[in-house]
Amino acid sequence: MALRHSGRALSKATSGLASSWSSWSTTLRWKPAQIQHQMRTMATVVPPVTQDKTSSKGPTAIVFMNMGGPSTTDEVQDFLSRLFADADLIPLGRLQNYLGPLIANRRTPKIQKQYAAIGGGSPIRKWSEYQAEEMCKILDKISPETAPHKPYVAFRYAHPYTEEMYERLLADGFGNGKGGRAVAFTQYPQYSCSTTGSSLNELWKWRQRLEGKSGPLDDGRDGTIQWSVIDRWPVHEGLVEAFAQNIEKKLEEYPKERRDKVVLLFSAHSLPMSVVNRGDPYPAEVGATVYAVMQRLGFSNPYRLCYQSQVGPQPWLGPQTSMSVEEYIAKGQKDLVLIPIAFTSDHIETLYELDEEVIGESGHKDTVKRVESLNGNPVFIKALADLAKSHLDSGITCSAQMSLRCPSCKSERCLESKKFFAGQQTLPGK
Ligand code: FES
Repeated sequence: MALRHSGRALSKATSGLASSWSSWSTTLRWKPAQIQHQMRTMATVVPPVTQDKTSSKGPTAIVFMNMGGPSTTDEVQDFLSRLFADADLIPLGRLQNYLGPLIANRRTPKIQKQYAAIGGGSPIRKWSEYQAEEMCKILDKISPETAPHKPYVAFRYAHPYTEEMYERLLADGFGNGKGGRAVAFTQYPQYSCSTTGSSLNELWKWRQRLEGKSGPLDDGRDGTIQWSVIDRWPVHEGLVEAFAQNIEKKLEEYPKERRDKVVLLFSAHSLPMSVVNRGDPYPAEVGATVYAVMQRLGFSNPYRLCYQSQVGPQPWLGPQTSMSVEEYIAKGQKDLVLIPIAFTSDHIETLYELDEEVIGESGHKDTVKRVESLNGNPVFIKALADLAKSHLDSGITCSAQMSLRCPSCKSERCLESKKFFAGQQTLPGK
């Protein structure tokens, strides 16, 4: 009984996760020229690594890590299967391999309909590849000593999977005894063990499987890829600026006399309270982003932080975004701006959950609005390049914060992967 209950709760709960962290509709609307450009880009062969320590520290691989989303409705089932198999995201204990596929199969038709409603798939791959490519172009200019910078994308539950990215790195001339440098750059600004932690655990797993020990180079260094990690960036000033500008733009849509009374509702993906109480750093880091954005806006408006996508009877971090919108409207506060604060591009949680469900069903589509997602925002992409440049200059392998496990963490994966990333050798030239 307890198991049935727990399975039902998780199934409902993770439909939010599944729907939020998935996407591709925009690609389906691309013009032929855009598709050709994309195919040319994807087909580009990255030149082999040629390590020339006397003149350059490059090439440098920059790997964008994110959850990913199904690009077509046919990919939904695979996406959900991987998602429910992830014990870092949805711990199902010894029944993970049994319950995971069951829940995934049951959720598939409903989630397929949601993707169909936003155009047939998730736009997250398109945006991630675009952001990574554009960021690398900027990095080549501002960090010539580590150029060329090669963009890669590694998704946790959708193509390109972490293992696909790693195979590409090896085929492009990194590792396999040749060394080379790669930066794992999380695209979750705020760290959670369920998101960035899970992606890093997966990267560590595939690194062990695909590289092991490649043997020393002539100079005694290890011939495997040298990894470092950008593991969080909740208050980076470029990120804060990009959010603030989007909010200012949206506020201009309200009449001047009402503008400073508009309530800003920041919305982040929720976490089960069991994860929060384990000691996950996510709530504090999301709060830090919100406060930094409000500081940049001069605290021009009243605001609250809410959490979305929680479902099921178990306690989740709140207040819920949908409930907050309903309650404020009931109190007479109909001017509301929703700000997705924990994702860097559109996905099903913005396009379906916020736009279709929360705003669509509010009865006040004219006064309840959502700010644009960061997507191709040039201020944001410059911020990514600045972040990467500072990281490359710093010579650190990961933040001090990343080496600390949650107080109640019992995961061997966390232990080993943190040991690995924190223990990477001093970076070349540092
Ligand atoms: Fe947070 Fe393992 S769950 S470090």
